[in-house]
Amino acid sequence: MRKPVMSGNWKMYKTPAETTAFFEKFRPLVEKSEHCEIVICPPFTNLAAAVEAAKGTRISVGSQNVAWAKDGAFTGEISGPMLKAVGVAHAIVGHSERRQYFGETDETVLKRTQAALEFGLTPIVCVGERLEERESGATEAVLTKQFQKGIAGLTPEQFAKIVIAYEPVWAIGERGAPAQPEHVRVAHAAIRRALQERTTHPVPILYGGSVNVDNAAPLAMEREVDGLFVGRAAWTAPGLVDIVREVIATRRPLEHLAIDLNRGGIPEAADF
Ligand code: PGA
Repeated sequence: MRKPVMSGNWKMYKTPAETTAFFEKFRPLVEKSEHCEIVICPPFTNLAAAVEAAKGTRISVGSQNVAWAKDGAFTGEISGPMLKAVGVAHAIVGHSERRQYFGETDETVLKRTQAALEFGLTPIVCVGERLEERESGATEAVLTKQFQKGIAGLTPEQFAKIVIAYEPVWAIGERGAPAQPEHVRVAHAAIRRALQERTTHPVPILYGGSVNVDNAAPLAMEREVDGLFVGRAAWTAPGLVDIVREVIATRRPLEHLAIDLNRGGIPEAADF
């Protein structure tokens, strides 16, 4: 069984000094955990500080975007090789805030995803419907369209290297309400079906949108939820650690079974 992927999206918050302070608190709390993958995505200006602070841990650092070109006259963009040079491992692509406010389209999402892969970054590709689309019963159609016009252009080998985040736009941010597990189940199943037409690889699908310590476990329990994509609740070290704990507690019995079967050993107790 795959380890859950727990990703924190800091959006446009924190300075390098605040990034270092976050990691000083966060590191000792998660350092020994082998039960999930943790990816922290700070703003570009904090990436170097985050990579430095995460050295020697299993925590990965991700950017919140990546250019579709290696270099060139693209004012304001940051390329894959630049991110790699800083030590970044992941890149968020197509977050709904990029789609809403900065003109990101399914076509540019594909180009950015391909560039991330070309330069050795793991793209976390975001998809999700708007409120009026959900209310008109178009959730599945929107997800399918975003998939077909966007990442369906990847090769089966490329699909093996991506992560998808389902983030319904109406669930994100202060005015958002978290999606109910039943809604997430249906949406993730639709994404899984679309994936299965392109690849046999079990691409992880994360859920994001108002994730908090109370809803993390029920969401993570859904069969097709392979991890969580956390905004506001990931901005403090204890906030994110509490959510990671919830998810690990939910997954642990199955994970231990998998470890026992594969290695014939009794796993050591996790840190939490
Ligand atoms: P939120 O943000 O958890 O604050 O709703 C999620 C996201 O947009 O990444």
